[in-house]
Amino acid sequence: MKKQTIGVVGSGTMGGAIAHLAALSGFPVILCDLEEKYLARAVSRMEHLMNKSVEKGRMTAEQKADVLERVELTTDLSQMAKAGVVIEAVIEDMEAKKAVFSQLDEILPPESIIATNTSSMSITVIAEATGRQERVAGMHFFNPPQVMKLVEVVRGYKTSDETVERLKELARDFGKEPIEVKKDAPGFIVNRVMIPQFIEAIRLVEEGVASPEDVDKAVTLGLNYPMGPFTLQDFAGVDIGLHVMDYFYEEFKDDRFAAPLSLRRLVRAGRLGKKTGAGWYDYEK
Ligand SMILES: NC(=O)c1ccc[n+]([C@@H]2O[C@H](COP(=O)([O-])OP(=O)(O)OC[C@H]3O[C@@H](n4cnc5c(N)ncnc54)[C@H](O)[C@@H]3O)[C@@H](O)[C@H]2O)c1
Repeated sequence: MKKQTIGVVGSGTMGGAIAHLAALSGFPVILCDLEEKYLARAVSRMEHLMNKSVEKGRMTAEQKADVLERVELTTDLSQMAKAGVVIEAVIEDMEAKKAVFSQLDEILPPESIIATNTSSMSITVIAEATGRQERVAGMHFFNPPQVMKLVEVVRGYKTSDETVERLKELARDFGKEPIEVKKDAPGFIVNRVMIPQFIEAIRLVEEGVASPEDVDKAVTLGLNYPMGPFTLQDFAGVDIGLHVMDYFYEEFKDDRFAAPLSLRRLVRAGRLGKKTGAGWYDYEK
């Protein structure tokens, strides 16, 4: 049976990689961004990763060419008309997402699903930009999506059971493990569990109980996590964690999510972790 076309809007870090994942899984893909140069950057990332696979003998040059062949590039959103599912991965900005959803609603056949890869925003609010709220849901991939196994499938207030099932099935077709987030709650599951751990780890350092290095060592060796909370924050960018804490604080109005001052200081000083080479591991310097 011919596989349905997967549309991806936004070809940045996540969108480009999700399009790659879909094409690697044998789906025809249509990838859309505002300018050709962003699409070209996404394709060169795909090529770079697959060149390494070819070198290691995990993929043949023909397979690589087939994957690239399956990815159609466009700067014209109306080309999405042939997609059965569109995954939106534009910038984390509510107005930008709503604009894309409302246009897609006009362009797509009524049975097509529109999913968002937002890491924090309300699925219900995004869905309200369309006339098909039952066929809108969150499909939250983790970075890098070609490697990370989990996909959170998130219900908006009106998302139908059929939409959830179709997206879980699609995640499995991508070789992922889907879980269902039954209610539209800030941070879904992973970020909701992770952020309080970040905050508590930072407080331990602020109180002088241990250094970032030793907290990471304790967590990796004592809890068997692959990465400690400070390594993970430095890896993702220290500003991302602060952004999510501020968002949770605003949504829940709960001190549990109040960002520690030392984190805010690091961000204000532009010491953002891996991107600048000076994050938590240089905290005391
Ligand atoms: N980066 C991560 O680790 C991560 C993980 C999970 C989820 N997310 C979420 O995924 C989404 C994308 O994040 P990212 O890190 O890939 O961002 P990014 O900035 O790397 O990419 C966004 C892309 O969207 C394009 N874009 C903006 N408006 C557009 C429009 N109207 N039409 C088409 N393209 C448009 C931009 O040109 C850019 O190429 C965000 O909602 C983010 O919260 C990110």
